[in-house]
Amino acid sequence: MTSDVARKTLPAMRQGLAERLFCLHDEIKGDGDLTALSRIAVALYDERTDILKTFIHSSDGESPLDHSSAKLANLPSLQELAVTGGRRTINDLKVVAVTGQEHATRLVACGYLSSYTVPVISKGKFFGFLFLNSVCKDFFTPQVIHRLRPYAELIAQIVMRELDTVRMMHAAVKVIRQVSTVRDEETGAHLARMARYSRLIATKMAGPYDLSDEFVEYLFQFTPIHDVGKIAVPDNILFKPGKLTVDEFEVMKRHVARGLEIIDMMAVDFGMQSLAYFTVLRNVIAYHHEALDGTGYPHGLRGDEIPLEARIATVADVFDALTSERPYKKAWTNQQAFDLLSELSGTKFDPDCVAALIDSRVEINEIQARFEQTVFD
Ligand SMILES: [Fe+2]
Ligand SMILES: [Fe+2]
Repeated sequence: MTSDVARKTLPAMRQGLAERLFCLHDEIKGDGDLTALSRIAVALYDERTDILKTFIHSSDGESPLDHSSAKLANLPSLQELAVTGGRRTINDLKVVAVTGQEHATRLVACGYLSSYTVPVISKGKFFGFLFLNSVCKDFFTPQVIHRLRPYAELIAQIVMRELDTVRMMHAAVKVIRQVSTVRDEETGAHLARMARYSRLIATKMAGPYDLSDEFVEYLFQFTPIHDVGKIAVPDNILFKPGKLTVDEFEVMKRHVARGLEIIDMMAVDFGMQSLAYFTVLRNVIAYHHEALDGTGYPHGLRGDEIPLEARIATVADVFDALTSERPYKKAWTNQQAFDLLSELSGTKFDPDCVAALIDSRVEINEIQARFEQTVFD
């Protein structure tokens, strides 16, 4: 899928959660009884679509489950843990694998023979799972589990703290939106859909572009904030039903710079500079109106000068705008939107992002059915 257009290296980032998990894993293995703990992985849960998705991992051997997602409803034993808060020990994964259970089969294929699963629950809410694996059968004895408990707790806390920062920022943006007049096209449903389209595109591109699950998750978290700067656009321009004049369009364009100012102020207030993927958020805001051929704004960047996260967000945003009804237009069919994106693929839009989106028809239908309403979040 990779074209010559766009293999952009992501900017140098502060240490992400995956790196921190890797260091912690090393520490844990230094504890005599726990040397054979071969893999630690965290999966996150998206309550609104019931999707459980791989997030970060530290694995001694091959990683069996990158870029995986599944509906929790289709994983009854995990679903039970999510509800009850119970833990699950499987001391012989081969026994589960022979029943055809896909995840177990993949784990066994990579040499893991036992597993211990802990649901991550905070203040009564389920956030995901911590998966621990060993290449040894019968590794998770009561004694080992007892030794692991504080480490498992610590990992859950680190992940939750980082996600709390993101959640706090979302809450702040929601308040900003509610007290401001940005209520036209940027409905909760639009943002929920475009975030999930972005996640679909990034997941499809993850292999060829070597994107981590952590990057994909942050992109999903951050894309709904792309237009926060619109609160600075006066109502008469923001809500104008017809075409904007040249001067009005100039004012409209300022929402990009204003968005960056807002997010930078929030970064100081919420201590978000320590967030490893803060750059992803800034790039989505700064470059979501750039076009591959240099005709976008505000910088007129070309091709892979535009960071990948912004190229993904642009395709997701435009696709949702086309397929949504607006006061001045009817909703296009998905096929009509795909046709336009294909036509402009390579000139305005990143061809790999467009191809990844078009390759996701089934998932797109599901997202559209789930977030049909145009109400505010
Ligand atoms: Fe925008
Ligand atoms: Fe948008």
